[in-house]
Amino acid sequence: MSKKATLQIDGKSYDFPLITGTENETAIDIKTLRGATGGVTTIDPGYKNTGSCESAITFLNGEEGILRYRGYAIEDLADKADFLEVAYLLIFGELPSKEQLDKFHSDIKAQSHVDEDVKKILDGFPKSAHPMGVLSSLTSALVAFNPSSVNVDSEEDMYNAIVRLMAKFPVLTAWAYRKRVGLPLDYGDDNLGYVDNFVKMMFKKPSGEYTPNKVIVDALDKLLILHADHEQNCSTSTVRMVGSSHAGLFVSISAGIAALWGPLHGGANQAVIEMLEAIKEDGGDTHKFMQKAKDKQDPFRLMGFGHRVYKNFDPRAKIIKKSADDVLDALGVEDPVLDIAKGLEKEALEDNYFVDRKLYPNVDFYSGIIYRAMGIPVEMFTPMFALGRLPGWIAQWREMRLRKEPIGRPRQVYIGENHREFKSLDKR
Ligand code: SDX
Repeated sequence: MSKKATLQIDGKSYDFPLITGTENETAIDIKTLRGATGGVTTIDPGYKNTGSCESAITFLNGEEGILRYRGYAIEDLADKADFLEVAYLLIFGELPSKEQLDKFHSDIKAQSHVDEDVKKILDGFPKSAHPMGVLSSLTSALVAFNPSSVNVDSEEDMYNAIVRLMAKFPVLTAWAYRKRVGLPLDYGDDNLGYVDNFVKMMFKKPSGEYTPNKVIVDALDKLLILHADHEQNCSTSTVRMVGSSHAGLFVSISAGIAALWGPLHGGANQAVIEMLEAIKEDGGDTHKFMQKAKDKQDPFRLMGFGHRVYKNFDPRAKIIKKSADDVLDALGVEDPVLDIAKGLEKEALEDNYFVDRKLYPNVDFYSGIIYRAMGIPVEMFTPMFALGRLPGWIAQWREMRLRKEPIGRPRQVYIGENHREFKSLDKR
């Protein structure tokens, strides 16, 4: 393939270099477009065809349903690694040695306290506040208690900010849950693993001992791995955009949490369970809801289906679907919505509307069924997604800053009024 693309505008030709990634993806480098053409730019709503950066963190191939973190297949990582190992891999680029992993975990445990004054902020929220709004606010508020901004050119400073966030975010997530259910805000146990400790912080009752259920810990660990990164998705692009102004790491992550909350993105896992419950309440007629999903006049969409990049099965959905069967069996949970979900999937995969548009179950389609079986309430499903995505957001923010990417500032095509003279009030 020639290493350039030629654009013709008004009979003139303009050449632009082609860049090729390590997995042979090709992009037209249009950095010089506006200058070379005297002002011509591009437009691509939703950036469906536009790359924002070069990145070495996650590779996904939507046509073949491939997902790799730093070159390792998601299937291998979900099966053989634990979440803290994967967090280290995403952030620092290599799987950690035992010494590195132990140090990472002990440095995180050393930072797991959250200033007691943060509880006063949490007190200000009504119990009914959605945990994603609480989490975004508290993550942003962490800046007030960790005021020194990250010196990205200092490895030590960057490392300390990373372990602080990895330590405090699970505490804030557990507190957001405990606030909703009226439980006291406290901590877990530094003698436990990262995910075991989170489960204990979530479910420990004020009285009596609590030992995390291994089935729940192992299943949650796997779910967090599957959610850990996904290249330039909406929330990660938000984290990069906010960080590109040299705003701090914590506030950049806070913005990412807000973006993830949307039902078209991470909020879909909550919307899927609400949809499945509605179908169950309506008598379980999946065919009726399939027709609604295909009806352009009906705003109903099949939540948990479709993806901007995957035009094949989302490899995460395959793993989660199998895990759902295993976890519900192990916990002795019967959930009728699992059968409804499987019925919807079967029907969609045989329906031309979905087949033609290459709409398959995505990461959000089955995950909520597992969370529910674990005793996690539906409003906490997207916070679970955020807990998993945290290391990916950190890794992407760090890469963007270390590569000294420019501040994000897209162009536009103006379609408003041409110049017009001001009219005084008495003349309008
Ligand atoms: C996540 O980007 C990431 O990587 C995200 C994520 C991550 O890990 O960060 O993978 C996590 O956000 C997964 C997606 C979760 N969202 C949902 O499940 C919500 C339901 N899905 C859709 O809203 C939709 O599929 C999106 C938002 C996921 C993708 O939308 P696109 O790429 O903008 O596609 P589109 O809306 O242009 O749809 C193309 C066609 C349209 O029909 P036509 O106009 O061609 O006739 O497919 C139809 C859409 O109407 N369509 C659906 C559908 N999804 C797309 N029709 C019914 N039900 C659906 N779910």
